[in-house]
Amino acid sequence: MRSLFPVTEETAAPERGAPGAWELDALADYYAYPESAGAEAGAEGVWLRGNMVATLDGAAQHEGRSQPISCPADMRIFGTLRGLADAVVVGAETVRQEGYRPPRAREAFAARRAAAGQGPAPAIAVVSASLNLDFSLPLFTSPLVPTVVLTGAQASAERARAAEKAGVDVVVAGDGRGVDPARAVRALGKRGLTRLLTEGGPRLLGQFVTAGVLDELCLTVSPMLAAGDAQRIAHGPAMTVPDRFVLVSVLEEDGFLFTRYRRT
Ligand SMILES: NC(=O)c1ccc[n+]([C@@H]2O[C@H](COP(=O)([O-])OP(=O)(O)OC[C@H]3O[C@@H](n4cnc5c(N)ncnc54)[C@H](OP(=O)(O)O)[C@@H]3O)[C@@H](O)[C@H]2O)c1
Repeated sequence: MRSLFPVTEETAAPERGAPGAWELDALADYYAYPESAGAEAGAEGVWLRGNMVATLDGAAQHEGRSQPISCPADMRIFGTLRGLADAVVVGAETVRQEGYRPPRAREAFAARRAAAGQGPAPAIAVVSASLNLDFSLPLFTSPLVPTVVLTGAQASAERARAAEKAGVDVVVAGDGRGVDPARAVRALGKRGLTRLLTEGGPRLLGQFVTAGVLDELCLTVSPMLAAGDAQRIAHGPAMTVPDRFVLVSVLEEDGFLFTRYRRT
């Protein structure tokens, strides 16, 4: 892994760019959430970071999964971003398609998490209107930190009860069946979950983008061409005016670019 941007004396040093020089601890320092989240972050002191991977031609998945367009370094960064987060906010379709499991406590992040007052692993916060989720799965019945399900006020009461019976923290963050994305972020912030990471999918990320609540995007550019009709990383109604972000950093390994952009 080597740093391509910003170019400083330190990052340009060959030993820093040597493969393997970026252990998990170095990656965790590199991707640390803003220190003064309250001052720098958006509403309620929450910082919402997105982490997505896309091919050169913009495909966010291949045959329904992101794994075919990812690589080991991408998975290391994926794990690091999880290791830093209070909660991972994810759309129900990604949970269903990718077979989400409860995040495990990882030794590499244990001391850092304890010092930051975080639980042993991030909570998974699933966004779902239908609550059409299998609440008998370990994601819901046996996570280290209770899984949250964000839904609307008019979601099925029966399904909500099934979720609660499994141990899920059901949070209403919308007046209809669906969730208001900005309200969802605020609701998590009020629960003390302020270092947020969203892993999409594209339909959920698109709503965070149009609601103006995405603070940062970690986008892996995968050196692959997929063609086909796969979704882009953000899908749904368009912005009136595209939102401008600034480039913060770029890492490279094996032809993959690990970019990070922040809202201006
Ligand atoms: N490239 C990447 O980095 C990446 C990352 C993640 C996922 N993916 C891929 O993306 C695909 C899935 O993404 P997707 O865009 O189809 O789905 P998604 O965003 O993961 O989930 C969509 C579902 O989330 C729920 N949802 C979204 N917005 C909601 C709202 N405002 N209120 C209530 N519920 C809401 C709904 O669930 P209900 O149907 O339960 O109501 C909806 O069907 C998979 O193929 C996955 O592999 C790629």
